[in-house]
Amino acid sequence: MRVRFTLNGKAVQVDAEPEARLSDVLMHHLEIASMRQDCSEGRCGSCLVIFEGIIVSSCMIPMFRVLGTEVVTIEGLFGSRDLRDIERGFQSTGFEPCRYCAAPKTLLTHAIISENTRPREEELEVQAQAVRCRCTSYQHFLEAIRNAAKQRRSRTRDI
Ligand code: FES
Ligand code: FES
Repeated sequence: MRVRFTLNGKAVQVDAEPEARLSDVLMHHLEIASMRQDCSEGRCGSCLVIFEGIIVSSCMIPMFRVLGTEVVTIEGLFGSRDLRDIERGFQSTGFEPCRYCAAPKTLLTHAIISENTRPREEELEVQAQAVRCRCTSYQHFLEAIRNAAKQRRSRTRDI
């Protein structure tokens, strides 16, 4: 089937099987360099995208559901002030995710602080687990998200 949708603000179309995974199509047909796929079962978070405004694992989205929707990957934030807030928040925390998880952790942070610049601690602790990582401290990631939220509040004068 031919699937037309909006990817990072641009109209795209691609021929794909209805059951094909969005993550596969992003990687192999639309050359989204940040896209990674690990578990392919919705457990690791390496394939996160913002789909219709919600952060989801793209390996769990079949292409027939993508028709007419809006999808954002980290590439959609390049050059934006939103991304700068997150980079500053991460830097001020000394938080440096590896190449493998930098994109999903950054996109996840963007989704969290765009929804609420003052994320509630209980929700934050659940949301931050969406990206599996055994090599950095979970608390360190939480602190980086809090600092990114601070940067966002300060830039938007949401003090
Ligand atoms: S590859 Fe999609 S959640 Fe693991
Ligand atoms: S997987 Fe990237 S820092 Fe752990």
